[in-house]
Amino acid sequence: MSSENANQQISVDLMKKEDLPEILAIERASFSAPWTEGMFLDELKTTHAQCLSIKVEREGKAYIAAYIIFWLVADEVHLHNLAVRSDFRRQGLACNMMNLMKDIAAQVGITRQTLEVRESNLGAINLYRKCGFVVKGKRPRYYTDTNEDALVMWAENEQEKNNG
Ligand SMILES: CC(C)(COP(=O)(O)OP(=O)(O)OC[C@H]1O[C@@H](n2cnc3c(N)ncnc32)[C@H](O)[C@@H]1OP(=O)(O)O)[C@@H](O)C(=O)NCCC(=O)NCCS
Repeated sequence: MSSENANQQISVDLMKKEDLPEILAIERASFSAPWTEGMFLDELKTTHAQCLSIKVEREGKAYIAAYIIFWLVADEVHLHNLAVRSDFRRQGLACNMMNLMKDIAAQVGITRQTLEVRESNLGAINLYRKCGFVVKGKRPRYYTDTNEDALVMWAENEQEKNNG
């Protein structure tokens, strides 16, 4: 994922410890129960975790605009975290990150993807539906800060449908 226009250049990179101050600022602005720095550091140490930062360079300055963390476990991808800085939303960044996750998984033969999302997070649910996910279940009171249910969503890519 890389693109350029007259004003900004977007690139994707492996998340690094140095990215965490900006990522934590996005995380805290995005979630009612944000991950801690320790949780991000644990993911960076986990061998089956893919941690990616999306960077935007504008007029010589680089910013973290978004990030995604997912696990490649057995024959499944588990989305663990995804957020876009508020001033970079509705520009297709999350959609691009979801496609990237699918492509990286496909490279190692993984076609099934799953995630959990708060029932009230309509923006994210719309995003996931647009990316081919469907609701397959519910985890009651999964989010302990609000006692909210989690929707469990799954997607299977074309390769599996064609083979199956
Ligand atoms: C949800 C989130 C990741 C979407 O990021 P984004 O880069 O703005 O999403 P995209 O621009 O790729 O949007 C793709 C589609 O998702 C849907 N969508 C995204 N944000 C939406 C919103 N606020 N309301 C309704 N639909 C939304 C739309 O269908 C959109 O397509 P459209 O712009 O053509 O209508 C972002 O709002 C965010 O970081 N939210 C806070 C953190 C969060 O909820 N993460 C997900 C946790 S499960």
